[in-house]
Formats: sequence, structure tokens, C-alpha cells
Amino acid sequence: MEKQTLSQFLLDEQRLRGIHDDEFVLLLNDIATACKSISRAVCKGALNGVMGSLECENIQGETQKQLDVITNDIFIEVNQVAGYYAGMASEEMDAPYEIPVNLRKSGKYLLLFDPLDGSSNVNVNISVGTIFSILRCPEGVENPKVKDYLQSGITQVCSGYALYGSSTMLVITAGFGVNGFTLDNDVGEFYLTHLNMRVPEDTHEFAINMSNQKSWEAPVKNYIEDCLKGTDGPRGKQFNMRWVASMVAEVHRILIRGGIFMYPVDSKLKDKGGKLRLMYEANPMSFIIEQAGGLSSSGRQRIVNIKPSGLHQRVPVIMGSKNEVEMMCSYY
Ligand code: AHG
Ligand code: MN
Ligand code: MN
Ligand code: MN
Repeated sequence: MEKQTLSQFLLDEQRLRGIHDDEFVLLLNDIATACKSISRAVCKGALNGVMGSLECENIQGETQKQLDVITNDIFIEVNQVAGYYAGMASEEMDAPYEIPVNLRKSGKYLLLFDPLDGSSNVNVNISVGTIFSILRCPEGVENPKVKDYLQSGITQVCSGYALYGSSTMLVITAGFGVNGFTLDNDVGEFYLTHLNMRVPEDTHEFAINMSNQKSWEAPVKNYIEDCLKGTDGPRGKQFNMRWVASMVAEVHRILIRGGIFMYPVDSKLKDKGGKLRLMYEANPMSFIIEQAGGLSSSGRQRIVNIKPSGLHQRVPVIMGSKNEVEMMCSYY
């Protein structure tokens, strides 16, 4: 089989579509480089002596892991050099990151990211990931402020994730379907391995943190209750359950074999609006899932239609196989 590198694939895609945008290919290459670097940092595990937690909390109120901060720095360092971005925002930074003056080149994009998703899994050697979302910087804005980032998910130019699992993968969409690339560590390149990924429309597998059951809202309680009734219940089938506690791993599994992923709002999270972050997790993953033929909802509306009111805003998330998400949302 002829193997195609990420760049070869992107250039080919552009040729097919009559697009000519070298900058976009280079930009995605920098994202790939950052992910390779993070992959190495994660793989080193305890050898680097950075598996612990820090004293500090991020703006989300989470105790930061050393690797949360290290991977955040890697993502910024690699991606700020070429000048594609007017600014960046991340789960781990209170305010948008301003590109240093000497590196500013009127970048036309904004980069939003979760540098290490599932970081509670990092010191138990379970899959983690990186999630990113690229928005257009509003015309004429040189030094973007929070309001410039508050764009609905529907306006994303590109999004994707890297999964640091038993192999490292990069999965991306630029609005023309979803493609997956696997890192060949011997060569240091991502090669196309998953062309045009599609989420199976039906499933009998759900992913939810069951320990929150008593705090869920009624529609979620009722839906899961019906799933658990098995072949005799209204769903007429036996469901299976998975919960990795890394959204990236969960979404990747769903892209490959279908499923429904839920992090609903519950009574403990009511004040926050949910657990997952709209700009760094929900929107980029919704773009991927929808581009692969799945659905993504807050239960009440399509996630990518939400008009953000804050950079670190949280939302309830229900995404995955089309028919199952529709079924779940019908409980609302
Ligand atoms: P992060 O590590 O970036 O803070 O995100 C963790 C998220 C998400 O990846 C996962 O689905 C969820 O939190 C797990 O939450 P619980 O620990 O409550 O199950
Ligand atoms: Mn976190
Ligand atoms: Mn996360
Ligand atoms: Mn994170």
C-alpha cells in the first residue's frame, strides 16, 4: 500500500477541490509537530519525573498536573512561530495568550485548545489526548480580546484531536469529512490510515460517568434506565457501557465503532452549566462527529449553534451515533 503523509494528503485534497492554500498545509503541519512533541512527553511517563500534580489550580478550578502545563507550553511554542495565529486560548490559561510582538505577523486565525485531555489518566498510563479548534480572527483585529474568540462552533475552520493511546493518532476535519493519521514513530511522520471516517448510525454502547446518576436531570435518568432494561425493555436490545474518562479516547472509539457519549449537566454542575468546555472540547469534537455523520447536542440544541458567552463556558454534551443521539434527545 502506498502510504501518504499528512502533507501529501492535504495537498492532494486541495488539488481535488481546486483550492490552493499552502499556509493551511503548513499550519496543520505545525499542529502535527506539536502533537508529536506532546506524544513524546507523555510516552516518557515517569522517566521524566513530571507525573505529579502542581500546587496551583487552573481557571476551571482543577488542580493542574505538571503535564497540563508542559503540554500547554509545547502547543504554544510550536504553533506561535510561523505567524498563522493572531492569538491563542486554552483550558489551562485564564486569559487569551498574546503572541509576543516579535512573532506577530497579522495572523488570520485563532487557536483554541485543550493541551492534555483526560489528564487524570496520565499517571495511571491510560490514553490521553489533545483537542484543538481553529477560528478566523475577526477582520482588522491585531491583538484579539476575549470577545473575538466568542464565535459559535459552526464557524470553525478546522478542528481535531491527537490521541496518545497504544498508537498516536491525529484526526482532523476542515469541513470536508474526517480523516485519521497514525504516527510512525520510526520515521516521525503521520501517515493516512483512516480515510473518510464515518460514525455508524446505530449503536448499543453508551459512555457516561454512572457515579453521577443520582444527580442527573430526569431525561438522562430515564434514557439510561431504558437502556439498562435490555432486550425486554423499550429499546429491545442489550447495551454495553464504556467510560475511559478521556473524552478524546471516548470520541475516537465512537468514530471507529459507534456509540453515544454523554456528559450531561447534573445538580452538582448546575452552576457551571456542565463539565466539558464549549470552546476547547465540545465545539471541536462536535465538528468532528458531525463531519463523520454523527450528531452532537446539548440535549436542547445543536452544540455548534450555541453563541458562546464566555471563553471557559461549559456545556452539557451528548454526541455520537446519529440515531442514538436523536433517541436520547427525544427524552428531553
Ligand atoms: P481534562 O483532563 O482536559 O480536564 O478533561 C477531562 C474531561 C474529559 O476528558 C472526560 O470526559 C471527563 O473530564 C471525565 O470526567 P470525570 O472524571 O468526571 O468522569
Ligand atoms: Mn483539565
Ligand atoms: Mn479535556
Ligand atoms: Mn485538559
